[in-house]
Amino acid sequence: MAARGVGILARLPLHSQRRSRVQRSIPRHFSCPGTVAANFGSEEQPLGSAETGSEDKIPKKRFSEVQKERREQAQRTVLIHCPNNINEKKFLKYLSQHGPINKHFFYESFGFYAVVEFCQKDSVNSLQSEAHTPNKSTESAIPFKSRFLNLKLKNLSNQIPEQLSAQTNNQSPPSSKKLFELLNYAESIDDQLYTLLKTFQLTEENVRLRHLTCSLIEDIAAAYFPGCVIRPFGSSVNTFGKLGCDLDMFLDLDEIGKPNVHKNAGNFLMEFQMKNVPSERIATQKILSVIGECLDNFGPGCVGVQKILNARCPLVRFSHQASGFQCDLTTNNSIALKSSELLYIYGSLDARVRALVFSVRCWARAHSLTSSIPGAWITNFSLTMMVIFFLQRRSPPILPTLDSLKSLADAEDRCILDGNNCTFIRDLYKIKPSGNTETLELLLKEFFEYFGNFAFNKNSINIRQGREQNKPDSSPLYIQNPFETSLNISKNVSQSQLQKFVELARDSAWILEQEDKGQPSPSSKQPWGLAALLLPPGAASPSLSKKKKKPMAEKVKGLLAAIKSNSADISKGSRGKRAISTQA
Ligand code: CTP
Ligand code: MG
Repeated sequence: MAARGVGILARLPLHSQRRSRVQRSIPRHFSCPGTVAANFGSEEQPLGSAETGSEDKIPKKRFSEVQKERREQAQRTVLIHCPNNINEKKFLKYLSQHGPINKHFFYESFGFYAVVEFCQKDSVNSLQSEAHTPNKSTESAIPFKSRFLNLKLKNLSNQIPEQLSAQTNNQSPPSSKKLFELLNYAESIDDQLYTLLKTFQLTEENVRLRHLTCSLIEDIAAAYFPGCVIRPFGSSVNTFGKLGCDLDMFLDLDEIGKPNVHKNAGNFLMEFQMKNVPSERIATQKILSVIGECLDNFGPGCVGVQKILNARCPLVRFSHQASGFQCDLTTNNSIALKSSELLYIYGSLDARVRALVFSVRCWARAHSLTSSIPGAWITNFSLTMMVIFFLQRRSPPILPTLDSLKSLADAEDRCILDGNNCTFIRDLYKIKPSGNTETLELLLKEFFEYFGNFAFNKNSINIRQGREQNKPDSSPLYIQNPFETSLNISKNVSQSQLQKFVELARDSAWILEQEDKGQPSPSSKQPWGLAALLLPPGAASPSLSKKKKKPMAEKVKGLLAAIKSNSADISKGSRGKRAISTQA
């Protein structure tokens, strides 16, 4: 996805600068009076959530409130494929015939697109009633009226080439060259971690596009299941999403057929006639199968639809071409949504949490510990759990255990899903901030030391209790699922991948220790601090490599000995084979 004329990577504040290029002031009559986003052109933080890292001075909303507002916002929004040379002012004037516009932006992804949010839902209906189905002589289109539209210029020959065409908003992460420049320019390792966070976190526009994509898919699913809801979950909403991450969505059918208690008085009870199938799994497979077909045949912009129905958690995977998102659609998966809410809380409690998670995720990606292909590697979700666990183990703890979040819960927080107790406090203001003042530099180094020396052979990671526990089975890495406590979220990880993680963690702790000793300094041209950790092995600065030689050899020997002696049971049954698993 190439950005048109947007040189996004100058010195920070990066994401605000990125926005200011795009959200140019909109004539007054285009905006909605009285809405928070009426001043969008200047400084927007409409939802005040930690989703996009905009949390600093804004009250933190509950996860459910943020999701509700985002959903409503998405329902008032259309996605329009536009000609490249569109004049922004004329475009907005044309659209505002249907009602005031709250917010808009342009981006590129195999074409030039506009995301336009109206103030009222009626404006969308009005615009749709003006649109017509294309008339193509060579191909036949399947008529489907959606909120994904195509704008054409009439009388092309009479059009004067536009000088003032619209500028695009960037939806992709920076190149590694740019990232290294930014990191080298930072003033401290702490500054580097925050720089990385600001560079990679989802932008306001990217979050909007994710919710809009879910809303567009919901319109398609609603053709079969009126009243269904498509909810985003995972890193798109849990505050840990990196630009470019996949879009996990969940088809929620629970809202369908919920009785209206007030109308049910009297002696009669009316029920819907339904087909019965032998199990819930079969029902899930049938529903996803039909939605997969529907997306494949009628979903505008949905390509590469794969139905992966025999996985532990059946899903439909597809690319939403216009947004550029790789989408995983599941159903009957409300526990995953609950774990997204839990991570949202952890990510919102202390600014250091997201900074540390992003750095660990980028570090793991840089060393190919994680991959976008499912397999025997560690996943971002597991890495996030490891960081949370590590932060629960600090003294004083930076994050509370899940059990303590449960003990703070009110009656209204009570939540039992499929027999699993998923209760925890949801009001962020009721959680006492940590008194821990450790720097990110120290935390990063100690994270690597902690997991470089963790007894993976006998212990499991458990964020519910915040302490190491005996492993219930011989999986190389055991991270207990916080709600379905009999499940290991890292069951897929092979011994060799775990070993690679341990070795790299030890190396990285060592590199950071050398930094402590003053080598090399931030003024050096060599990558330093976090940047040095993101380099491929062997590419560290010459000063570090020289110093490293002897201790590294010793370290490797020590590591091998340790792994041989205390990991005998870890390695059993593991050959580092790539298993195709859709459940991380
Ligand atoms: N999930 C889970 N158990 C697993 C794997 C995933 O409960 N073994 C849930 C988690 O809530 C996770 C979500 O499914 O956040 C989506 O999974 P995945 O896309 O693998 O992880 P993300 O957290 O979205 O991270 P990424 O940015 O890598 O997509
Ligand atoms: Mg994901």
